[in-house]
Amino acid sequence: EKGGYRHFMLKEIYEQPRALADTIAGRALVEEGDVYLEDLDLDDAQLAGLEKIFIIACGTSWHAGLVGKFYLEKIARVPVEIDIASEFRYRDPIIPANSLTILVSQSGETADTLAALREAHGKGGKTLCICNVVDSSIARESDGIIYTHAGPEIGVASTKAFTTQLVALYLLALKLGRIRRSLSAADCQARLADLLELPRKLEETLELDAEIEELAREFVNARDFLYLGRGNLYPIALEGALKLKEISYIHAEGYPAGEMKHGPIALIDEDLPVVVLVPRNSTYDKVVSNMEEVCARGGQVIAVVSGDDEELLDKVAALISVPTVDEDLLPIITSVPMQLLAYYIAVLKGTDVDQPRNLAKSVTVE
Ligand code: F6R
Repeated sequence: EKGGYRHFMLKEIYEQPRALADTIAGRALVEEGDVYLEDLDLDDAQLAGLEKIFIIACGTSWHAGLVGKFYLEKIARVPVEIDIASEFRYRDPIIPANSLTILVSQSGETADTLAALREAHGKGGKTLCICNVVDSSIARESDGIIYTHAGPEIGVASTKAFTTQLVALYLLALKLGRIRRSLSAADCQARLADLLELPRKLEETLELDAEIEELAREFVNARDFLYLGRGNLYPIALEGALKLKEISYIHAEGYPAGEMKHGPIALIDEDLPVVVLVPRNSTYDKVVSNMEEVCARGGQVIAVVSGDDEELLDKVAALISVPTVDEDLLPIITSVPMQLLAYYIAVLKGTDVDQPRNLAKSVTVE
């Protein structure tokens, strides 16, 4: 049932090109420059009139929501507030009439996310879930649904569910962008063409496997890890750190690269591996200078870059090179090395990768 893989987690990491293709299939209307989402339960006038979007989730799904905020604000120009379900549900949130609350949940059974959905409904808000399990509680109670077609995810650490959530949020942003006219049909066409290329690029990214397994050996004895990213890659820094903590039990923190100098830089020494997400994008120069501050203090930088970034080669301890993609798709592509690094470190540590201690696949109690 693991299809020849040693763990479900590795199998699921490798299923991502297929999972992404299935999540995109039938929804990308390339010729029209539009997106079809079958079960939104909101008509075009309601979508055009949205004044605010809330995204609510837990854990890895919350990280997907953080990227979703970037997509929706940049492409559809709707203000987005994002919160953790266990925070949102107890803070008596203000839910305006023309708002939409999006619940992101792989299982559709997470107790706090379900309670947040009920809170939004109770206040008269419209709801939409991004969910992987058909007919789950959250799917049943939401007004609209965008299913991710990741297929069953068995490993406790979420991988393919996360990257398909990112695709679903991206498709939603494109759809809203078209309806609200902040995105032209031509731009939408170009974005969809790039999106359709993504499964193949992910396939290419998986070829990093052996190299990352090797890298894991070098860093397996570290006590702590720091992950840095900016903009839409800050959530990927958080996700990289979460993957590492939950399956290898190594303490890890994700941080916005620009916040380093406000405290965490004090932690940097020769024993601290720092994963820096620094592919070519609009904040490249900023992140390079944050990275140089880490190098200057002896930190061991593992840089995730696009293509062969020779400029950085002699500055860092290790370079992980991902295929070049549009900057809005970088969160998806850079998730793969985050997953593989955590996976191989955990395997070397001999932990129970698919069933890490103290964790459950779906958290149905608060
Ligand atoms: C981490 C992980 C958890 C879940 C969280 C929410 O790898 O799997 O953080 O993301 O428990 O679960 P869902 O998405 O099922 O609501």
